[in-house]
Amino acid sequence: MMETKSVGIIGIGTYVPEKVMTNKDLERIVDTSDEWIVERTGIQERRIAAPDMATSDLASRAAQKALDDAGVTAEEIDLIIVATATPDMFFPSTACLVQANIKAVNAAAFDLAAGCSGFVYAMVTGSQFIKAGLYKKILVIGAECLSRILDWTDRNTCVLFGDGAGAAVLAETDPGYGILGSQLGADGSGGDLLKLPGGGSRNPATGETVSLRMHFVHMNGNEVFKFAVKIMGEAANKALEDAGLSAADVDCLIPHQANIRIIQSAAKRLKLPMDKVMINVNKYGNTSAASIPIALEEAVHGGKIKQGDNVVLVGFGAGLTWASAVIKWGKEANINC
Ligand code: ACO
Repeated sequence: MMETKSVGIIGIGTYVPEKVMTNKDLERIVDTSDEWIVERTGIQERRIAAPDMATSDLASRAAQKALDDAGVTAEEIDLIIVATATPDMFFPSTACLVQANIKAVNAAAFDLAAGCSGFVYAMVTGSQFIKAGLYKKILVIGAECLSRILDWTDRNTCVLFGDGAGAAVLAETDPGYGILGSQLGADGSGGDLLKLPGGGSRNPATGETVSLRMHFVHMNGNEVFKFAVKIMGEAANKALEDAGLSAADVDCLIPHQANIRIIQSAAKRLKLPMDKVMINVNKYGNTSAASIPIALEEAVHGGKIKQGDNVVLVGFGAGLTWASAVIKWGKEANINC
């Protein structure tokens, strides 16, 4: 039998905008309070992109940092996948814009839409090209400018999200390391729970779609919450099963950073102590497809993840979608992580 290649992350980088928006700032915009936001979500502040920056700008900066971290040049990249719900425009893809920005002249490029599960979807998708022997080095990026699609008069949604980007370089790793298992899932029947209904082929942009505020995020928060609480533990367990491991083997959980209560409930279902769970939702809010790589980078470079650790990434999002992966962290080139 042909041995399958091990594929893992050999470099990781992030970029978050400088501008910090605190809960106190939001109190001046909508009828909300720091106390409500912290208690219900765990979020204290989020980053907001400068007016002259779009998703591809954040993505390109994160990508360059990931390349530097991996010690890989842009010319070595064979493929760029950008997971985003906030592309610069319908087309060209944000991945093509990043390709031009970082001068990855040998790379193919495409975007992937899976809401907040997008980074893990992109990582699992990208890894298949390496396993199949088609490509050697792939950049996967989760990047969002959610501030551009938020209704800043809707307190139910505008307090939850932030802007940012995280990128990872995938390559073949030592046997036994890298992505050991994964699960990708979707339930399109829940699509109405979280959507941006205006501007697509269903409701092309008109004066009416604008006045009906259809170009903003619409969310049924309670239903998304219930779905998230159920799916996070289930999806993490499915990826662990795929890897031949159990929750007891997990050294670090990197959950999608949407809400501290969802994260706590996922940890409880997996019977994981909170010191094995990475949390930075307090600093960045929900950055959708960027949230998992931003949390992963902080855990790796902050020393929370060590060589040989079993790391579980798990996310859920618009679609509805979910995605999970188990990574045995480490590779010689990345030993300083
Ligand atoms: N400030 C103050 N009060 C608020 C705010 C706010 N920002 N937002 C809502 N409220 C009020 C509501 O109006 C409601 O008031 P009422 O009782 O008088 O009607 C009250 O607070 C309770 O509202 P709930 O919606 O029941 O609050 P809940 O505890 O469920 O928290 C939340 C709401 C935070 C949105 C929660 O449901 C949640 O986190 N859901 C998941 C959202 C999520 O993760 N979305 C991202 C999905 S991933 C992706 O693809 C982007």
